Amino acid sequence: MPAKQQAPQLLSVAPMMDWTDIHYRQLARLITKHTFLYTEMVVDSTLIHNPDTDRFLWFPPEQRPLVLQLGGSDPAKLAAAAGIAARYGYDEINLNCGCPSDRVAGAGCFGAALMLRPDVVAGCCAAMRAAVPTRVTVKCRLGADDVDSYEALCNFVAVVSARGGVDHFIIHARKCLLTGLSPHQNRTVPPLRREWVWALKRDFPHLAFSLNGQVEGCHAAARALAAPVPGSEAGLGSHAAAGACIEGVMIGRAAYSAPWSCLADADMAVWGAPANAAASRREVLERYAVYGDSVLGRWGVRQDGSLVPGVRAVAKPLLGLFHGEPGGRRFRVALEHGLRKKPATLSALLQEALRAIPDSVLDAPPRRTQAPPFAACAEDLKGPDGAGPSAREGGPAEIRGPAPPIHAVSARRGLERGKPGLAPDDERGAPGKRPRVAVY
Ligand SMILES: Cc1cc2nc3c(=O)[nH]c(=O)nc-3n(C[C@H](O)[C@H](O)[C@H](O)COP(=O)(O)O)c2cc1C
Repeated sequence: MPAKQQAPQLLSVAPMMDWTDIHYRQLARLITKHTFLYTEMVVDSTLIHNPDTDRFLWFPPEQRPLVLQLGGSDPAKLAAAAGIAARYGYDEINLNCGCPSDRVAGAGCFGAALMLRPDVVAGCCAAMRAAVPTRVTVKCRLGADDVDSYEALCNFVAVVSARGGVDHFIIHARKCLLTGLSPHQNRTVPPLRREWVWALKRDFPHLAFSLNGQVEGCHAAARALAAPVPGSEAGLGSHAAAGACIEGVMIGRAAYSAPWSCLADADMAVWGAPANAAASRREVLERYAVYGDSVLGRWGVRQDGSLVPGVRAVAKPLLGLFHGEPGGRRFRVALEHGLRKKPATLSALLQEALRAIPDSVLDAPPRRTQAPPFAACAEDLKGPDGAGPSAREGGPAEIRGPAPPIHAVSARRGLERGKPGLAPDDERGAPGKRPRVAVY
């Protein structure tokens, strides 16, 4: 089925199991209106075998644009799961090819283990695309175990795009070790090679690539989005030109542990909106409390009489809201202390806990960047020769190391820069011009 047209995914919040649940996403949506949000990974068989799919898939409509991440490696099961999810109106389906967790890798060949099986990934994506009209994307690593060369990554992208019909890859820019490292170590120990993401864009200019890996906030994301692909003739300020820049940045841990400082200026700084979604954290909290109280007990009541979800679950995403601010620690302690008293509502809990936060912090507006969206900050990432991003101090999106050589598959196919490298039977047509960066 041809996928629906999709707005460019300039900025997104990463899928994170146990973190990007429905409550966190609601909080994030109150902080940024345009940034794409991802669900936690949902395993295909969970949806197939569990009649209560609402529990895993329902979301308030205002959470869109929202991407459902699926885990699995069986085309038929993934297609069935995508079909079930289609009823809920997700904007995209993303296949997890990057998660090293034992809960994933140990449960069969999926997650990061799929980096070793591009043919399987292509089959899974093709099956989902055939089943639903939703766009299907892939989130992956640079490689797994000793299959970690740039050439192998290009082969993965070439196979999955040509045979699976995937046109957007989100790249967690480090490899994954399938054994021997904990999930946490797999997010910190293998070195980041962000320059490979720009190299992919150079070698597959007709495809979209998003950078993921320790980007600390929306201003750093804006700098990365402005950084031209090495050798791009379009140069700075030409983001509308296909192939000139990477398409998106995905932020994970920073968006969870410090959601306000990470995302509050995203609508203006990244999306070019005339205003940000919220003027202050007071506003966010007032609206979030209404949401939190409205969903208490939505999924039922436990035998001991406690609600699912309860106040603790809806309060959890708030723990980082005042990260690094005066009173931030006292706020976390007050939340924990208040929860022990088993408050009936989130509003009641917040009334107490917010006494820890000075009004000046509660009412502070989002921290703005001096730079307008993209253009000025592109200078920060310009290399010494003006051709590519540099490693300037202080920019969390800095790119280190030289770009790998132009990929042999592209060369073999005789691709010219800016021309598609798809298999002849691909039905999507010419890549066309990239949509305007600012949505207003
Ligand atoms: C607690 C936690 C859970 C995660 N769960 C998933 C997941 O379900 N699916 C996935 O593709 N990646 C998962 N990741 C990886 C993140 O999506 C992201 O790729 C990684 O954290 C690197 O981005 P960052 O440096 O911005 O955090 C998880 C990360 C964390 C910290």
